[in-house]
Amino acid sequence: MPFKQENIRNIKESAVQMIAGDWALVTAGTRDSFNTMTVSWGGLGELWGRDAAFIFIRPQRYTFGFLEENDRFTLSFFGGAQRDALLLCGSRSGRDTDKAAEAGLTPVSDGDVTYFAEAALVLKCRKMAKYDLTPDGFLDGAVADNYNGTDYHRMYVAEIEETLVRE
Ligand SMILES: Cc1cc2nc3c(=O)[nH]c(=O)nc-3n(C[C@H](O)[C@H](O)[C@H](O)COP(=O)(O)O)c2cc1C
Repeated sequence: MPFKQENIRNIKESAVQMIAGDWALVTAGTRDSFNTMTVSWGGLGELWGRDAAFIFIRPQRYTFGFLEENDRFTLSFFGGAQRDALLLCGSRSGRDTDKAAEAGLTPVSDGDVTYFAEAALVLKCRKMAKYDLTPDGFLDGAVADNYNGTDYHRMYVAEIEETLVRE
């Protein structure tokens, strides 16, 4: 396996650039049954004394069901590479196509999680909590423009259990 363990706190890249700029793949499920999708909204930090990842997933995503059914998920980061693959995984649904195969990504099976051999950095995450965003919480009225009234994100707060860096 061409990945080595690292401490997330030793990762020097900007978390904003990693997620918002370079994008990531959220993947849930085992090698036999998984789905992946691109995300650019989210965060990395700390909550409840744990290093944590925060992702925001709309309920209509096929990946949503995999996130609900599995305790763990991964975040695969590509450092700005694989842009076409990430665009494909962010525009096609796993309901209709084998996105990983179409995108030329190689799934790696690792216990109860799946990630991609082409990733530069992988975070193995365990769900700690989930919260549905509701419009009564929006303080900036423009935030509501991101929604059609039914598709509010579910936020997952997850402990970063392992950080893998491609060697
Ligand atoms: C750059 C980019 C970022 C995205 N970020 C998110 C996100 O943070 N949350 C979300 O629910 N959807 C996001 N999407 C949309 C999903 O990736 C997209 O709907 C995908 O096709 C869902 O696939 P699925 O149905 O196989 O789960 C993003 C798409 C792109 C292209």
